[in-house]
Amino acid sequence: MNPTIVTGGAGFIGSALVRALLATGVERVTVIDNLLSGKLENLDEVRDRVDFRHADIRDYSAIAPLIKNAGRVFHLAAIPSVPRSITEPVPSHESNIDGTFNVLRAASESRAGRVVYAASSSAYGDTEVLPKTESMAPNPKSPYALQKLVGEYYASVFAQCYGLETVSLRFFNVFGPRQDPSSPYSGVLSLFMKHLLARTAPTIFGDGEQSRDFTYVEDVAALCIKASLAPAATVSGKVYNAGNGGRFTLNETWRALCAIEGVKIQPLFAEPRAGDVRHSQADIAAAVRDLGHAPQFTFEDGLRRTLDWYRANA
Ligand code: UD1
Repeated sequence: MNPTIVTGGAGFIGSALVRALLATGVERVTVIDNLLSGKLENLDEVRDRVDFRHADIRDYSAIAPLIKNAGRVFHLAAIPSVPRSITEPVPSHESNIDGTFNVLRAASESRAGRVVYAASSSAYGDTEVLPKTESMAPNPKSPYALQKLVGEYYASVFAQCYGLETVSLRFFNVFGPRQDPSSPYSGVLSLFMKHLLARTAPTIFGDGEQSRDFTYVEDVAALCIKASLAPAATVSGKVYNAGNGGRFTLNETWRALCAIEGVKIQPLFAEPRAGDVRHSQADIAAAVRDLGHAPQFTFEDGLRRTLDWYRANA
């Protein structure tokens, strides 16, 4: 048996990936998660088909035996958030760089199958041209962006030096059900949804004209699976954008949510956030060509589905 591993599998994106893997015929999935931001309840629907391992990727000796003989490793465990990496650089460095190195080393030393790594669109920083293509020089603006970029470089180097198959996917502002809105570091859409349902004003950092390629979580999960199956000769060691290809400002997004709910709430505005990227939009041509990326959800579909979930689960 060559287990399928998802690190960070109790998180909001990881648990969507676990469900997608099980739905596509994988019998069991091993989840490695330290439950720092992940939650067991995210796996409630699939608990009988998940082997849950409470372990931290910073601890090589704890994770190496779990990754041994893995068929595929989806490495999503991380401490996310640009502002968190600025206020707490040490834990995010240790998880995002040292932890990623540990996962790659464990996979490589045990001759595991392919590692699909959750990289980040933040690696681009501010670019003069949109959409952002993989051939552009990275320009990280925050510790988080740099840490995720180092993980990509490590993945490519493990492919070149040790023959480990790796694919890095630069996730673009993923949103959807189960994204936790309870922290100041939470993704903006989870916070917007929370405020919308409570009929309270969200805070927008800056003028709200910054834009993001908001990508629905199920599209990202589907792409992770495709990346794990694409021909190694084409994709191994490479980096691909995992976005939707669109771009919406925060002001537009809040207005769209208010329109869906039929309410009018003026947001509050605060100082721009340190390390914030101004505009983000993925060129998805390479992912479409090499991985068969085919996003299924428009932004509005995703917003409606996510809102329905928060309404039912708040
Ligand atoms: C960044 C990455 C993303 C990565 C994520 C992990 C970019 C372009 N994107 O997301 O790929 O997955 O880190 O955490 O670098 N905002 C508000 N009010 C709030 C919260 C946020 O206005 O209450 C603003 C932020 O200032 C930012 C935007 O909303 O301009 C999005 O913020 P957030 O959801 O935290 O994600 P990014 O930092 O863009």
